[in-house]
Parts: sequence; structure tokens; C-alpha cells
Amino acid sequence: MKVFQNHNPSEIQACQPHVLEDVFRFHRALPGYAPTPLISMDGIAGDLGMGRLLVKDEGRRFGLKAFKALGASYAVYRVLHERSGGRLEPGEFVGERGRELADGITFSCATDGNHGRAVAWIAGLLGRPAVIYVPEETVPARIDAIRSEGAQVVVVDGGYDDAVRRAEEECKDGRMIIADIAYPGYIKIPRYIQQGYLTIFREISLQLEEEGEEPPDIVFIQAGVGAFASAAAQFFNNPSNGVRLVCAEPQAADCLFQSAEAGDGILRSISSGAGTIMAGLNCETPSLTAWPDVRDRFDVFVSMEDHWAEEAMRSLAAGGVMSGESGAAGLASLIALCAEMPGFLGEELHLRDNARILVINTEADTDPEGYRRIIGKESSLDEKPG
Ligand SMILES: Cc1ncc(COP(=O)(O)O)c(C=O)c1O
Repeated sequence: MKVFQNHNPSEIQACQPHVLEDVFRFHRALPGYAPTPLISMDGIAGDLGMGRLLVKDEGRRFGLKAFKALGASYAVYRVLHERSGGRLEPGEFVGERGRELADGITFSCATDGNHGRAVAWIAGLLGRPAVIYVPEETVPARIDAIRSEGAQVVVVDGGYDDAVRRAEEECKDGRMIIADIAYPGYIKIPRYIQQGYLTIFREISLQLEEEGEEPPDIVFIQAGVGAFASAAAQFFNNPSNGVRLVCAEPQAADCLFQSAEAGDGILRSISSGAGTIMAGLNCETPSLTAWPDVRDRFDVFVSMEDHWAEEAMRSLAAGGVMSGESGAAGLASLIALCAEMPGFLGEELHLRDNARILVINTEADTDPEGYRRIIGKESSLDEKPG
């Protein structure tokens, strides 16, 4: 494990309250919407010598086994909203009006699995086709999950960045790319996707309020291109409110860690070589729109080996939470820190012994075979709700 500490995290621009409200109102109108559970797993916290551990279980989001549909759906809504001249209501999105506005569009994107399934799901809700590009090492179960939403899947020679390029090259008339990575000339949709993830933090704050609980002291966020991390940064935008943010990445794809460590503020691409079991985090380049938020607001960047994810998956499974390799990565970085740098959280981040820790399980067993291999038993989350 490698750790880079940002000793001067700064306040960044907060998400506007009306955006937070708009995003939440939209998601609540989607079919199958329900807040995902926020679960106390104090047994794991106790094992780590910490006070309180809260796990937000996104493995249950919309029956898609991952959080990603929150971002993709909101981005598509905003595109159709613009097409409607600002008149499309959230409740009309999945309905005749949404279908009229989406007429003629083929939705497309590159993905390491979860985002592509989310885009395919939205396309299906709108009665539109989708073409999804995946890197060559994508496991069959993830490809099948995308196909099960009715999409065409194109397997690209190479890694995630190659899939992004290919989706862009083949973007012709009628195709609309809904990508979560921003790059020069492609900014607007990734920003909407980042905003879509705010619902997770909005739900958490409501759930904590209902329980009469204080906000967390520290939040561990796993990152691929950093879009999800940027939502966390925008929600907990001011470090002086006392919430520390930790960015967790696999060592084989630690583009945010390396960009932060370089210290000149410029984002860096890494070459994906070794591969990682954390497929959702296997990204070579940070998103252009996410990077500044993450760079400025996050307190710590952790780059870790795959075995920590396996350990975190087992801990979560023992407590009844089904978590995939990328889903467990936030907790994995906490476990790695406690094991290899036991004084770090107290001495460097000034956390109290009874600190409240928040992690987000961002996916369930999106690779059931991998899950079985690591956990040693069958998964049981295959049903979609309603
Ligand atoms: C399960 C899971 N967790 C976390 C992430 C990271 O999100 P981001 O790429 O926005 O950093 C992904 C991305 O695909 C994912 O699939």
C-alpha cells in the first residue's frame, strides 16, 4: 500500500442546493427507486480498533447491483430536459414524453461493466437501442449483464481508455455518448453524471438525521475516473466541517494517486499493465471535470494491492453485505491503513478512537464467479425488484 496525504485540503465549490434537490427529485420518480440501506457494522469497526462503521449498500440500487445508474440516468434526463426546452418533468422521463424526446437516439458509452449496464438500462426504459464498448478483459458475466438490458456489446482490444476512444470514433449520426469520463471537448455529460451521484450522499444525510446521528468523521471513496469521488467532494465540500475524505484505488490503476503525488496539480494517465480484480476502478486517466475537486478537497490518496479488496469483501460478507471487488475497495483501504500504518488515522488525521467511519459498497457480485472464488459461497442478489 502507498499513501499520499494532502496536508492542505481546501474548500471547493459546493453543489448548489437546487441541483441537489433536482437530482433527488428526478431519482425518486424513477421506476424501482428506493433509498439503499445504511447499515451499522460496528463489529468490523471493533476489529479495526475504530468506533463506528456505516456501510451504504449501493449493491441494491435499482436491482442493477451497482450505484452507476444514478449518474447515467440523471445525465440522460438533463439531455432530454434540454431538448424539451426545459419543460420535461421527472415524472415524464419514463413515459411517452421521454420516449418522444429520445426518438432517434442510440445511446453509447465505454465501460468496465457497471456504467455500461446503467446506460443500457436507461436506453431500455426509453425504448431506445444502446451500443456499449468494453475492454477485452471484461468478464463474461459483466458482458451478459449489459446484454440482458437489451444492448449490443462491442469488445475492444485493449483497456478502458481504448474502449473510450473506440466509442468516440464510432459515434456517428444518431449516436449519443453518455460517458462518465470528461476530456477536452466532452464536459457537460460527465458533469451531470457526477451530480447524479449526489443522491447517495443526500440519502445518507437524511438517514443519519432520522437516526439522530452526526455526520461521519471520515469517508472512504473508491475511484476509477474519479466522478464518484468528485460527488463526495462537492457534498462534503468544506474540510473545516470536519469530514476527512480518503480516495482508494488499486495499485495497478492509481491514476488519481499518481496525479496527486506528482504535486503539480496536473492530471496524469498511467499505462494499465498488471490489471486488477477491482475492474470498476481499472481506469487509466482521471476525468477532467472530476480531478480538480478530488485534488483540492481529498485529504488522503491510497493505492493498494488487490488482496485488501478480497479481505474487505470477506468482512462485509460475514456481516451480511454482498460486495464485489470494486464495491469493497473503500473498506479495503481502511483495513490496509489500519494494518500497515496503525497510527495514521489518529496521528495524521486526528481521528478520535470512537470516530464515525462511512464507506460505500458501490457494487454487489457483478462477477458472481469471482465472488464465489473469494467468498467461497453462492451469491443471492440476482432478483430485480418489482
Ligand atoms: C463498483 C464501482 N465502484 C466505484 C467506481 C468508481 O467510479 P468513478 O469511475 O466515478 O471513479 C466504479 C466505476 O465504474 C464502479 O464500477
